[in-house]
Amino acid sequence: MARYSDVRNSGERYSDDRGMGWLSVRGLAMMAGGAALAVVASRLLPPVVAQMAGSARASSGRDAFDALINDHRHIQSLLNEMVQTPIDATMRRTQLLLRLKRRLAAHAMAEEDVVYPMLHDQAHKQDDTRQLYGEHAEMKMHLFTLERLPKDDPRWLAVAHELKRIVQGHIRQEEEIDFPALRNALDQGETAVMSGSVAREKALIL
Ligand SMILES: [Fe+2]
Ligand SMILES: [Fe+2]
Repeated sequence: MARYSDVRNSGERYSDDRGMGWLSVRGLAMMAGGAALAVVASRLLPPVVAQMAGSARASSGRDAFDALINDHRHIQSLLNEMVQTPIDATMRRTQLLLRLKRRLAAHAMAEEDVVYPMLHDQAHKQDDTRQLYGEHAEMKMHLFTLERLPKDDPRWLAVAHELKRIVQGHIRQEEEIDFPALRNALDQGETAVMSGSVAREKALIL
């Protein structure tokens, strides 16, 4: 029975005999290692860079709250477009829904993983935090229904209108009550940390 050392030695001889050292087992392992490192770097670096950029932006006056409010405007304009689509615009509905889902997913992840826990712990808005998490769940269930329904189903528009209504109320609550409360509860350093973390969470999806 061939032992591992025999296989390894014959593998090394094979590569040496042909004068193709770069194809040796070690060479291949190094290439694979390099490729794996590149994959890891491509996954890890954007969030890390985004986090640093987010913190830097916050110290120059544009913080995570501005970025989140900017997301709200994009989300609202996508919803406005969705509810204006005619019943036969099935491709357009599919496209708008995908764009909304992507934007909402990144935004919700940043809020659920960073902003809401801080709203709970640092602004002591426990009831509001629970309500906001619950509304995100409602939005996701509506998105699921919109995805499952045929895009020319008469119910599609009614669900889109309902989603728009939930999102509007939710955004008003965040922008008029909870974001200002959290902004007041955090000092400049904490705001910068939060801004970096929000940028990192969004970079994981966008
Ligand atoms: Fe939210
Ligand atoms: Fe939001």
